Amino acid sequence: MSFVRCLECPKCHATYSASEVHNLCHCSSPLLVHYDLERLEKTVKKEDLKGRRADLWRYWEFLPLEKEENIVSLGEGFTPIFTANNLGRELGFKHLYIKDEGLNPTGTFKARGAAVGVSRAKELGIKTIAMPTAGNAGGAWSSYGAKAGMEMIIAMPVDAPDLAKKECVVSGARTYLVKGLISDAGKIIARGVKKYGWFDASTLKEPYRIEGKKTMGLEIAEQFNWELPDAVLYPTGGGVGIIGIWKALQELKAIGWIKGPLPKMIAVQAEGCSPIVKAFQEGKKESEFFEGAQTIAGGIRVPKALGDFLVLEAVYESGGTAVSVSDDEILAAVKLVARTEGMFICPEGAAAVAGAQKLLTSGFLKPDEKVVVLNTGSGLKYPELINLDLPVLEKDTDI
Ligand SMILES: Cc1ncc(COP(=O)(O)O)c(C=O)c1O
Ligand SMILES: [Zn+2]
Repeated sequence: MSFVRCLECPKCHATYSASEVHNLCHCSSPLLVHYDLERLEKTVKKEDLKGRRADLWRYWEFLPLEKEENIVSLGEGFTPIFTANNLGRELGFKHLYIKDEGLNPTGTFKARGAAVGVSRAKELGIKTIAMPTAGNAGGAWSSYGAKAGMEMIIAMPVDAPDLAKKECVVSGARTYLVKGLISDAGKIIARGVKKYGWFDASTLKEPYRIEGKKTMGLEIAEQFNWELPDAVLYPTGGGVGIIGIWKALQELKAIGWIKGPLPKMIAVQAEGCSPIVKAFQEGKKESEFFEGAQTIAGGIRVPKALGDFLVLEAVYESGGTAVSVSDDEILAAVKLVARTEGMFICPEGAAAVAGAQKLLTSGFLKPDEKVVVLNTGSGLKYPELINLDLPVLEKDTDI
């Protein structure tokens, strides 16, 4: 049994039954899962989490599944938060942390959304899932879909990282490359959904992926022993991660597990694709399509996010900000984190590190604040990022 009350539209507040399959609200907004938090608060205590399984399913009561037998898991979540003292010293932070989502199955935080999304789709009897992706979500959903025995149809930009393409292919997904951006892949998928009746699992077009990503927020709270950091920096593309973390913190606050001010939520984007930053700077509630989007951090190359208004709401409500960084800064941050912390992080995570650096310089972040950067994936998924120019020795040469 779950604690889900219904699906609710954050725009027009229409409600829908969660036992039926739904995508968007009739007003075209994403739908969010609404829980019976009073009942949840009475049923489960923080202390109950101790000794539970070390993956995201430890937060069972905050998740939308009815039956445990429907869990499709590859061991996702409960990733470590590392104290990044060396990097902190280099940048000027006294309390800098990196939550390393690269340790998830399929190498990125996308495993969280896929685990919960696929599990719930299985529970609802869905057999075929279709989605556009920047790459990593496709790899994750294909893997979980394979485990669940589902048919997966994936479309991604032709220049998406090779490894993400290979993950889809090896796990048996029908994989298409599109000469365009994720937004173009999305249009192709939407036409296929109409024609063939597939289930559309595009970012925020189904309500459960965000529930999986929400667990990053639950974990940050639990791993800091319910004493929240001052700021959370998140590399923002479709925005599901940042919206999810913010949703988790709201739910925890509502049941009294956390108190006091919530962290400033900071959306970091690439200069070559920064619709949310532009909207924030103009004080707007929604973003506009960002023309000519280009960055080496493909996961945050999303010219217009369906949930942009929710991202901006989290940023405004938390007293956070939105900041963009250049591709050169991203690449420099990949190398800096590897040299100082021994972590090969993905370019998206590196964008968040570069964002932290920028905000310290601008004075928005203070040196003694507790700052958490989300590294959303492993750099091992981006082998093309680092150029090699190594000496090749003859067999009997000395160095
Ligand atoms: C590694 C990585 N980081 C960040 C993102 C952006 O995620 P979100 O949609 O939660 O903003 C993506 C999306 O593809 C990604 O692959
Ligand atoms: Zn609505």
